[in-house]
Amino acid sequence: MIDGASLLITGGTGSFGKACIRIVLKRYKPRRLIVYSRDELKQWQVRQEFPESEYPCLRFFLGDVRDKDRLYRAFNEVDYVIHAAAMKQVQASEYNPFEAIRTNVFGAQNLIEAAIDKGVKKVVCLSTDKAVAPINLYGATKLSADKLFQAAQAYVGAAMATSFAVVRYGNVLGSRGSVVPLFLDQRDKKGRVTITDPAMTRFWITLPDAVDFVLQTFHRMQGGEIFVPKIPSMSIFDLATALCPGCAHENIGRRPGDKMHETMISTHDSFNSIRFNDHFVLVPSTGNRDRYIERHGGTAVEDGFEYSSHLNDWWMTATDLFDMLGADSQGNFWRRTQFEKQAGAADGPRD
Ligand SMILES: NC(=O)c1ccc[n+]([C@@H]2O[C@H](COP(=O)([O-])OP(=O)(O)OC[C@H]3O[C@@H](n4cnc5c(N)ncnc54)[C@H](OP(=O)(O)O)[C@@H]3O)[C@@H](O)[C@H]2O)c1
Repeated sequence: MIDGASLLITGGTGSFGKACIRIVLKRYKPRRLIVYSRDELKQWQVRQEFPESEYPCLRFFLGDVRDKDRLYRAFNEVDYVIHAAAMKQVQASEYNPFEAIRTNVFGAQNLIEAAIDKGVKKVVCLSTDKAVAPINLYGATKLSADKLFQAAQAYVGAAMATSFAVVRYGNVLGSRGSVVPLFLDQRDKKGRVTITDPAMTRFWITLPDAVDFVLQTFHRMQGGEIFVPKIPSMSIFDLATALCPGCAHENIGRRPGDKMHETMISTHDSFNSIRFNDHFVLVPSTGNRDRYIERHGGTAVEDGFEYSSHLNDWWMTATDLFDMLGADSQGNFWRRTQFEKQAGAADGPRD
């Protein structure tokens, strides 16, 4: 599908975006692979990693998702869009709420309108478990974006055949500003790690797995769904113990906007949710789940089903974690990430 097509990634210089570029360039031959983001330095850094001479399909567009005109320009003859650009730090969104709304909500609507009007075929928007029953503004903005994307499917006309889907997943192991690089830094510099609450649990996914799941979504999507991968859980305590053996733990308490556990499918969503082998699909609440199952398979989840990080039946062990991060048996991280193993790329941290 991507061979010969034009794929645009908003936020293409972020953790997800860079992993996605590497994987797409390794597996496919797109006509154009367009990076859309604001900061010229980050784009320059990506250009260094993927020189134009080797990757002539790569294009770089400086632009803000808040700027609809710029999106219209960038979406010229684009077939597929992955919407990864977002403000994603919980704390930053708590303290700059309207900035998060302008990027994550207004930006999403700008993108939807540009995609419909410019005839983009399929759009996948990245969402997060924090969008389910949100208690922080980041989650609330991502929930709003999810709703905008699902609603867009309802009002896009038959003549303008753009399909929209959302992918919702949990914490990305090792993404920029996340807890894995924080723990490793604390381990190396101080020999102690700060833990918000040892009983806290999270869903975990690697960047390559997140990218794979998003790319598969382009094949699976009918329009209007939320796709949720089945992924393992681990407590923050177990994560810190595995990553930083022998380090003292300093309990600092939950930060504003932190939940004890995250949820990907709430009991209220169970009526719209369908179970497949390695993922769930949430059809829009206005959609017909039985008809979807008849056409596309899967089984209805039981009423009251909840997919939460503490109720998960798949738990990540320290060995799984090392494997997912591509660590050696001594727990030395960042030597080779899982992606780098696959791609044969150079050693060293990426995000
Ligand atoms: N990381 C996780 O643990 C996680 C978990 C679940 C879901 N997600 C979702 O996955 C997506 C990607 O996350 P990530 O980890 O790759 O984030 P990231 O590393 O912070 O990257 C964000 C990207 O968005 C761009 N961006 C930010 N604001 C923009 C704007 N107004 N206009 C255009 N581009 C903008 C940034 O580049 P510039 O600053 O140069 O514009 C950067 O390329 C987000 O939607 C996030 O909500 C992430």
